[in-house]
Amino acid sequence: MNVKPVIELTADGSHTLFIPELNEHYHSVNGAIQESTHVFIEAGLKHCEKDDIHVFEVGFGTGLNAFLTLLENRKSGKIIRYTSIEAYPLADIVIKKLNYPERCLPMAQDMYYKLHSAESGKETEITGDFYLTKIEADLTRFDFSETRENADVIYFDAFAPDKQPDMWTQEIFDGLYYLSGNGGILVTYCAKGAVRRMMRQAGFTTERLPGPPGKREMLRATKRI
Ligand SMILES: C[S@@+](CC[C@H](N)C(=O)[O-])C[C@H]1O[C@@H](n2cnc3c(N)ncnc32)[C@H](O)[C@@H]1O
Repeated sequence: MNVKPVIELTADGSHTLFIPELNEHYHSVNGAIQESTHVFIEAGLKHCEKDDIHVFEVGFGTGLNAFLTLLENRKSGKIIRYTSIEAYPLADIVIKKLNYPERCLPMAQDMYYKLHSAESGKETEITGDFYLTKIEADLTRFDFSETRENADVIYFDAFAPDKQPDMWTQEIFDGLYYLSGNGGILVTYCAKGAVRRMMRQAGFTTERLPGPPGKREMLRATKRI
């Protein structure tokens, strides 16, 4: 994928990236921060009651979900181990132009940049209670059997199924089920019936939840053994 992103402003004043080659945005144009908060923080992270939470993210991208997770966790005092897989890391020049620190918490700007400068393939302490491991790899070639992650919360934030169908396959949902711990949840902004059926086929139970502005529904899947 040849990634040449264009920075755009969304309805809540936060930036997103547009990929002309895919005709696809990284976030909802109705509000990037608003969407990430609704789908991943409210329906995902806050739904997990554990004190030591392992988050696995599909698509690190702008690092917005990681940043919002880190900021949210400052109020909870929990430990977060955050693993994120990304095949096409963004250039620093793009990251430095994004207004997420300014829109969320200007004094946390250094933490946002630290998320991005963390080396792939090893765990980096971002704060005393937030540890990041970035994996630079293609999810469609990822060998799930090599890992025993026991994820508590999966943020499934791939480009939409009609833009990148190879990210929304039975094989991938089977792999994510395998990677989840008992009681683990997977959240995504997508509510398509075909996606829900693949999650169920993998073994998850699924719920349709109200979506963020501009989207009627989203999905949350749970692994119960
Ligand atoms: C919808 S964007 C969301 C990114 C991020 N969560 C954010 O908030 O900026 C999808 C992300 O998936 C990444 N991606 C695309 N194909 C991938 C693949 N095969 N394996 C891993 N990541 C991929 C893209 O580069 C992009 O960063």
